[in-house]
Amino acid sequence: MRSILIKNAQIITMNFQEEIVYGDLYIEDDRIKQVGGDLGYRADQVIDAKNKTIIPGFIQTHIHLCQTLFRGQADDLELMDWLQKKIWPLEASHDEESSYYSAMLGLGELIQSGTTTIVDMETVNHADSAFQAMAESGIRSLSGKVMMDMGDDVPDLLIEDTNKSIQQSVDLLEKWHQYDNGRIQYAFCPRFVVSCTEELLTSVRDLSNHYNVKVHTHASENQGEIKIVEMQRGMRNVVYLDKIGLANENLILAHCVWLDDEEKGIIKDRGIKMSHCPGSNLKLASGIADIPDMLAIDANISLGADGAPCNNNLDMFNEMRLASLIQKPKHGPTAMDARTVFRMATIGGAKAVGMEDDIGSIEPGKKADIAILDLFKFHTYPSHDVDPISRIVYSATRADVDTTIINGKVVMEKGNVKTIDKDI
Ligand code: GUN
Ligand code: FE
Repeated sequence: MRSILIKNAQIITMNFQEEIVYGDLYIEDDRIKQVGGDLGYRADQVIDAKNKTIIPGFIQTHIHLCQTLFRGQADDLELMDWLQKKIWPLEASHDEESSYYSAMLGLGELIQSGTTTIVDMETVNHADSAFQAMAESGIRSLSGKVMMDMGDDVPDLLIEDTNKSIQQSVDLLEKWHQYDNGRIQYAFCPRFVVSCTEELLTSVRDLSNHYNVKVHTHASENQGEIKIVEMQRGMRNVVYLDKIGLANENLILAHCVWLDDEEKGIIKDRGIKMSHCPGSNLKLASGIADIPDMLAIDANISLGADGAPCNNNLDMFNEMRLASLIQKPKHGPTAMDARTVFRMATIGGAKAVGMEDDIGSIEPGKKADIAILDLFKFHTYPSHDVDPISRIVYSATRADVDTTIINGKVVMEKGNVKTIDKDI
């Protein structure tokens, strides 16, 4: 048995009452055992967290690790040009080694900025080496190879035969799903309706039901994309996904910037998980998703940075801040307050991946996925008069993350990311 005792911290639990408590946090193996109070000093590892703040690790529900190496590419293009002119050719150029390093580079950045779980989408080829990187890094992840079996201006290397795409996905699932006691899970990743035949999408539906795994895709991100879908399928994205039986609680839908009332109703009624990507939606000029409206109907919303070239940054602090700021001019200062976006970044993400019993908050019995922040280093005098959640959302940066712990293992300490491969 391994144990870690973190002493004298302020702990933002995000439990049901959203309590903030003071004292110690005790971890045994991969789980949190006790929270708050003075718990003594007996543990393999003791971390002094005086004047520091412990938060649940961030859960990002839309990431493309395979795009990290392409940061800075196509910085001033909209979605379809960005994909066709730059991103697809770059994804086609990946080999096993570049796929591994692209993933590792992104994972280092994510872990350093306190992200402990990701929902990732790889490219068509070489996803296996990205899974290897995820396994070694210690991250918790749901990931899969992207599937695309139709489309205009797609490089030959990315256009797949339908059956081969399905077979390769199932092979990866059988190799990686539930790896390291469930730390890594498979998720089917049809890219978006534009690049998938109905035959592929209905097979994904059946396989997701058969294996009970998530489906991770994009929808209604950009007006041009929506027009293509309407031309191809005669209806809007979410209506189509519902018609073919993919609209259910296992579906994680990135972006959803442009939804009509029927689509909003389907998202709510079917329990679809919406991944809001404010940084990417701004940079690719996609639009501003009406999140206050979706919250009003009690839809599940979580956050994701998307790929590095979508917003130049994989940092959840950035996404939380943007998620709040972009709504303020239209909806007023409190429509997306700090607590609302912090909830999306933690427990909202846990619900999106169906793991709210295991992650997303700091409570006895949950997995030990946490970050320790030093909020007083750069910002203000240590004062408990300032709401720490507000301080985190509006002013914290990745430099404030001292330690990241995933599955009860320290994977980053003071800026140094560790490779935990040997320990698995
Ligand atoms: N839609 C289809 N593929 C992509 C992608 O790689 N990134 C984004 N942002 N949207 C997409
Ligand atoms: Fe994306």
